[in-house]
Amino acid sequence: MAVVQIKGKSQLSGEVLISGSKNSVLPIMAASVLCQGVTILEHCPDISDVHDMIKILESLGAKVSFEAGTLKIDTTERTEHEVHEKDAKKIRASILFLGPLLAKDKKVKIGYPGGCNIGKRPIDIHVDGLMHINAGFMMGKDYLVCETFALVGDRVKLRYPSVGATQNIMMAATLANGKTVIENAAREPEIVYLARHLRSMGADISGEGTSQITIAGVEELHPCRTVIPYDRVVAATYLILAHVTKSEISISPISDTGDISDVISLIQNAGGNIKQNGTILNYHPTSKNFPIQIETGPFPKVPTDIQSMSMVMGITATGESSIRESVFENRFTFVDEMRKMGADIQVDGDVAIVKGPQELYGASVCVPDLRAGAALCIAALVAEGVTQIANWELIERGYENFVQNLRHLGADIEYC
Ligand code: UD1
Repeated sequence: MAVVQIKGKSQLSGEVLISGSKNSVLPIMAASVLCQGVTILEHCPDISDVHDMIKILESLGAKVSFEAGTLKIDTTERTEHEVHEKDAKKIRASILFLGPLLAKDKKVKIGYPGGCNIGKRPIDIHVDGLMHINAGFMMGKDYLVCETFALVGDRVKLRYPSVGATQNIMMAATLANGKTVIENAAREPEIVYLARHLRSMGADISGEGTSQITIAGVEELHPCRTVIPYDRVVAATYLILAHVTKSEISISPISDTGDISDVISLIQNAGGNIKQNGTILNYHPTSKNFPIQIETGPFPKVPTDIQSMSMVMGITATGESSIRESVFENRFTFVDEMRKMGADIQVDGDVAIVKGPQELYGASVCVPDLRAGAALCIAALVAEGVTQIANWELIERGYENFVQNLRHLGADIEYC
């Protein structure tokens, strides 16, 4: 278990380069098995989730190189269609190989996915959707086996706009016979970026970013080069950090502020001042710090991935904040860790009430999941004294150079 120590209340300021998006690059990496040849992904984040996906691609027979942010995936000699259980359970995004391998090879054997422990995280919507386009399933104890004689396009109505299920069905449908229409599709920016990438590969897709996505199957796809967009959750992390520590912090490159407009509004409504200068966003501290009322939900609602960090906004604000978690049923586990630092948070079902302002103090805490880890880190930077954060490796699943970036901003942070 990696442990990082943070001495809080340092003066922070400076600029941070925001890495490529984890949640965009992972499905795009999985999409590389839809074709033969060399896919090139630029601005790829150097995080452990990407390395776990590389291991899966290599076990499938792809040749992969990753240098200076450029990932090259050569699937010319890929023949395997089994994602081993030990690799699959390391990461939730392993399930994103299901649709593409099925479409390309007509058969896939895949271990059940792992990932952050933030709820039950079933895969029924993925399975139901693929069954609608003519896939057959056998569910074993450790493996899921999925086969098709030929995928056939159809109308697929999702019972919930699952991001991963929308991506899996989209990818499978690119090579199906006929037209697939996904209703109640997820609308997250990561769906839009995946659709653009698939179109660059030759796919016929429209409607991404709306609740109805149409995919007309094509005979074949070809590799392409894609620049991965900035990570909107990482960008939100640094903006929230700037707000709660009252620090002058700039982030770039923010190519499209539309992807984080909800977070910008959240911070501005709480009294923060964010100014845009081209692709740079500057946070300027103010004396205001109002409480927040949020409910997480599918895009364009506030993303569940920033829920834990928004809790620190509530802790530092003057008044009572209310945070409702509507996406994952088990995403308040970090609250006990924050209480160890002096936070006053009451949880009732899916709602957390945060009383602020509270003076936080250093404590020994343990990271329960990736985003909660970032929230504990932000809390530690606000707190008086020293905080030791164990299980730090979970944070490195999604944040590139986090320790170095925070040190560059002036944080007193070191590995123990
Ligand atoms: C993705 C993101 C994750 C984000 C989440 C919600 C990636 C790699 N991860 O995860 O960071 O928090 O979207 O925005 O992009 N569900 C089912 N059955 C299913 C699938 C999902 O019940 O078959 C439920 C989940 O348990 C959860 C909700 O639907 O309660 C949302 O899950 P989903 O949108 O699928 O999230 P992921 O794609 O796993």
